[in-house]
Amino acid sequence: MRHFQLYNPVRVLFGVNQIANIGRYIPAGVKVLVTYGGGSIKKNGVYEQVCDALKGFTFMEFGGIEPNPKYETLMKAVDIVRKENIGFLLAVGGGSVMDGTKFIAAASCFEGGDPYTICTEGAEVKKAVPLGCVATLPATGSEMNAGAVISRLSTQEKFAFHSPLVFPQFSVLDPTVTLSLPPRQRANGVVDAFIHVTEQYLTYPADAKVQDRFSEGLLLTLIEEGPNYVNRPDDIDTASNVVWAATMALNGLIAAGVPEDWATHQIGHEITALEGLDHAQTLALVWPGLQKVMRASKREKLLQFAERVWNLREGDEEGRIDEAIARTEAFFRSLGVGTRITDYPQLASSKFIDVIVERFRQRDTHLGERAEIDCDTVRRILEDRQ
Ligand code: NZQ
Ligand code: ZN
Repeated sequence: MRHFQLYNPVRVLFGVNQIANIGRYIPAGVKVLVTYGGGSIKKNGVYEQVCDALKGFTFMEFGGIEPNPKYETLMKAVDIVRKENIGFLLAVGGGSVMDGTKFIAAASCFEGGDPYTICTEGAEVKKAVPLGCVATLPATGSEMNAGAVISRLSTQEKFAFHSPLVFPQFSVLDPTVTLSLPPRQRANGVVDAFIHVTEQYLTYPADAKVQDRFSEGLLLTLIEEGPNYVNRPDDIDTASNVVWAATMALNGLIAAGVPEDWATHQIGHEITALEGLDHAQTLALVWPGLQKVMRASKREKLLQFAERVWNLREGDEEGRIDEAIARTEAFFRSLGVGTRITDYPQLASSKFIDVIVERFRQRDTHLGERAEIDCDTVRRILEDRQ
């Protein structure tokens, strides 16, 4: 196992009616900006719960943060934070609202020129407005981590940043809040969480038994509960398990002491930036191709995945790896998430593969746990998906 530090200061308020408790964790006397997306919170009762919980605080609203939050939109909120002397941000929404709010928090205090350099050049975040979250979609883990992914319309880019200063002070995980999610977003959430786990698990062995078994537990939970979550929209017990699995999938715990491979995400972000696919759709598309092309490098962990997650113990090793990849792809498809280029009509006539390969060539990108996925390997991965 590698050496590691693990730091996660996020207070999790899990369960029904926990929104009512947020006032205790917002500093008295500060002006609050409530941020949200396209309006789902105004249809499912979450907005009213938040307003009730903020009685006694002065607060303003900023709505309209879109899926795959855009720099151009977020900078409008930065203006409000600066002009109105906002002292606390409350993100009420899915990963896009939470990520967007982390960017607003950092950009509002940024003094080094264009705040998007925080994402593109790793410009240091020296200060950020404190924030809290009410998570309404189990998927990204943003509610309990210090990362955010921000898109820029003008350049068709999508890049992440990380800073301990944007850890939420608290996050409410009330599974009942997610019951209004449509099937597509539920399926997306299960796939995103599943792939987050594999990107911290399907690399090479690090003799990290605890992390491996935590990861396998999360994957088995998502396989067991994922279909129920999509097909039984009122099942609160299933929702509770999926919500907690998604949070645990990307809060630092299973990454401690092990190699990581974020190539599926990095390739996926380019597809969203260019073609607008949902985040999880891009992951379901890339993942099977990446495992196939990188199977030699990932061999031992793929065999462990086959045995412990898909219960494949018989037959030759290559056959077990093939079957594990095929079952995972079938699992994504069973949830309704496409795994092939032909599943997404907007990709049919697109030159996105050439553009992505060229972008990676220009950036001299090397992805994966051994930094061995170069632009030509990316082409093989994407061409596998045709
Ligand atoms: O905008 P509203 O009206 O709220 O509707 C949203 C949106 O249309 C809707 N929704 C959310 N909660 C709902 C709901 N509809 C009904 N009932 C509810 N309870 O769902 C739609 C999608 O929301 P979005 O926030 O975009 O989805 P998700 O949570 O999947 O977030 C995706 C974003 O997170 C980033 C992705 O790149 C993408 O930009 N990620 C962030 C990560 C992180 N911070 O660590 C890691 C992830 O890998 C991911 O990259
Ligand atoms: Zn993700």
